[in-house]
Amino acid sequence: MNSFGTFLKFSTFGESHGKAIGVLIDNYPAGIKIDIDYINLLLKRRQGGGALSTPRKEADEINILSGVFNGVSTGASICVIVENNNARSKDYKEIFRPAHADFSYFAKYENFDYRGGGRSSARESVARVIAGAFADFILKEFNIRTYASLCAVGGISLDGFKFSESEYQKALSEDLNALGFVSMFIDEITRAKKQHDSVGASISVAAFGVFAGLGETLYDKLDAKIASAFMGLNAVKAVEIGAGKDLAKMNGSVANDEFLCVTNCEKKQINSNIFKTNTQISNFSYANANPKKPLFLHTKNNFSGGIMGGISTGETIYIKVHFKPTPSIFKEQSMINKNLKIVKDTLVGRHDPCVGVRACVILKSMLSFILADFLMLNSCAKIENLKKIYKGE
Ligand SMILES: Cc1cc2nc3c(=O)[nH]c(=O)nc-3n(C[C@H](O)[C@H](O)[C@H](O)COP(=O)(O)O)c2cc1C
Repeated sequence: MNSFGTFLKFSTFGESHGKAIGVLIDNYPAGIKIDIDYINLLLKRRQGGGALSTPRKEADEINILSGVFNGVSTGASICVIVENNNARSKDYKEIFRPAHADFSYFAKYENFDYRGGGRSSARESVARVIAGAFADFILKEFNIRTYASLCAVGGISLDGFKFSESEYQKALSEDLNALGFVSMFIDEITRAKKQHDSVGASISVAAFGVFAGLGETLYDKLDAKIASAFMGLNAVKAVEIGAGKDLAKMNGSVANDEFLCVTNCEKKQINSNIFKTNTQISNFSYANANPKKPLFLHTKNNFSGGIMGGISTGETIYIKVHFKPTPSIFKEQSMINKNLKIVKDTLVGRHDPCVGVRACVILKSMLSFILADFLMLNSCAKIENLKKIYKGE
């Protein structure tokens, strides 16, 4: 599938060594100011830093073909393309490389563009980042902020899963966009690179300012959507929500997120009554809260990472994502040639020694898109919301 999203959707097209990568965003609301500099900033972050990222550097110049007029969205589908100008196809031959998608694409399609990994290349993630930037313009209206930073490289890992917003912001100014251990991470990647090898990594992703009530029940849960989107990114091998796999070692008495309080009038909150509840039709009441403001639940530990029952609780959303080492390494390995025979070969080309360095902004973008999609879906979650839109009640 080349599409993502339930109401707010995007579809992507293009291969690593094709003419261009593009994204088509559908159901994007009219009236949003489109900040080109912000889109470029995210695309720049995706390019990673100097020697620790692939030497393939593309200009990543965006060309908005539709959906924006006078710098503001029109409600029409938004189409953006980015040309590929720096592909080096001679580095690629008809061989199935270990840990790449070549063999499985052959098994499924037989005919596929293998140059630079073709459609399976992370070059496609340019489109995800553009979609995420457009999603951020929606989230900005609601003061929802998403971040992603490196938290482990190889065997070196930061403890815990909860980091503050200022820690993520500080990480953005670091070369590696890392939450800590920056020089150790750099050493680890440099060592792998010198040995013609690669190394795995983990990324911590978070969303601040998300109020309670985002996510769909049962088959489109917020955590399920996040896990599916993140596992859909190249080289991701595991996704943890909140305390993740550590919860499996706990007793309920420790793991349960004990409630501390509910707030809905924090200083930074937006003045939206989209979640206003008519107390007459609910078993519960807003007696101690302002029904015109969104709710934020506060718990002792937030082990569930801001999501319960597939719906946001108002706590910070925390996710940890684990990446395998970059498959392309410059050591001799067993591969399969075009006649399906095992051969020994050594790859050439330009590659990231650690994909985690460039993946942060892609995950951040996907999280933004999911939250914007669920925000829009909630506009018809209850009759009150529709009445608000059409009758101004
Ligand atoms: C941001 C990013 C950059 C990547 N760069 C490379 C690369 O330079 N070389 C490479 O072999 N794989 C790279 N990968 C990983 C491959 O695209 C991926 O492992 C491969 O397509 C197989 O898919 P799978 O690992 O999801 O099974 C990158 C992944 C991401 C997310």
